[in-house]
Amino acid sequence: MTAMRQQLRVASTRAELAEVRAGLTGRVGVVMTMGALHEGHASLLRAARRDADHVLATIFVNPLQFGPNEDFQRYPRTLDSDLEVLREHGADAVFVPTVGEIYPDGEPKVRVAPGPRAAILEGAHRPGHFDGVLTVVLKLLNLTGATVAFFGEKDYQQLTLIRSMVAELNVPTTIVGVSTVREADGLALSSRNRYLSDVERAAALVLSRALRAGAGHAGHGAVAVLAAARTELAREERVAVDYLELTDPDLGPPPDSGAARLLVAAKVGKTRLIDNVGVTLVAHDPATASMERP
Ligand code: PAJ
Repeated sequence: MTAMRQQLRVASTRAELAEVRAGLTGRVGVVMTMGALHEGHASLLRAARRDADHVLATIFVNPLQFGPNEDFQRYPRTLDSDLEVLREHGADAVFVPTVGEIYPDGEPKVRVAPGPRAAILEGAHRPGHFDGVLTVVLKLLNLTGATVAFFGEKDYQQLTLIRSMVAELNVPTTIVGVSTVREADGLALSSRNRYLSDVERAAALVLSRALRAGAGHAGHGAVAVLAAARTELAREERVAVDYLELTDPDLGPPPDSGAARLLVAAKVGKTRLIDNVGVTLVAHDPATASMERP
């Protein structure tokens, strides 16, 4: 049996998007992307399909979130195959604006100030990145009138900051986080993986290996988690680590026990990759450590 494929409507202007949106009733689920769609994006589309009556995607490589020496110009743009992925996953419509459509007056004078949690981790290495992300996300939430919007845990700090923005600015959209999709060998899917040579791709596996090693030591406390992950990272000389940090789920200092997040960023050749995992810490008292093993 061949599944009936619904028509995917493509809106390039705000006016076309408004017209499409006016025809959608019930819960509208939005999946925002920069294109070069892969299985990670597909997983967000599936979550949206399950949860909402209509699925709206956006594809926009947002210049505001790229630094001057980053990959805005060479970021992969694969519109035809992206539209095919969206059709396969039953999206009702996609908004594919030009830069001028989103920023008609050039760089916006009004931006979202993302607060102190945007200055750490990614923010420390990519100044201004999260101002750009939150500004475009808020604009796209407003333009799409999203009931619910889906974001990947892969970009954990981004997800955390979007949740804060929506809560603190009273944006009437529910934010849903979706687990990271990985290749069979552990590499987290990313549009930037296509920059990697075969040798670099093999080296990049150390990121997920280090996170697994760290999580495997959760029963021995925070220090052991970081040490295990660091040891693993040090084995791969092709990988230059930007940071490896353990935080609480809101990116604050790690707790002694309970839910925590282990986050890593590194350069493999010229490509910068990020990854993270959830870790459940067990409080570790060094005084009793010697009694743990015979
Ligand atoms: P992009 O990198 O295209 O990612 C779009 C969405 O897909 C984000 O929510 C991201 O977390 C999610 N995603 C990426 N890789 C994933 C994976 N392996 N598993 C699960 N989800 C994954 O993130 C952005 O674009 C932009 O910053 C954006 C939010 C669109 C604002 O410009």
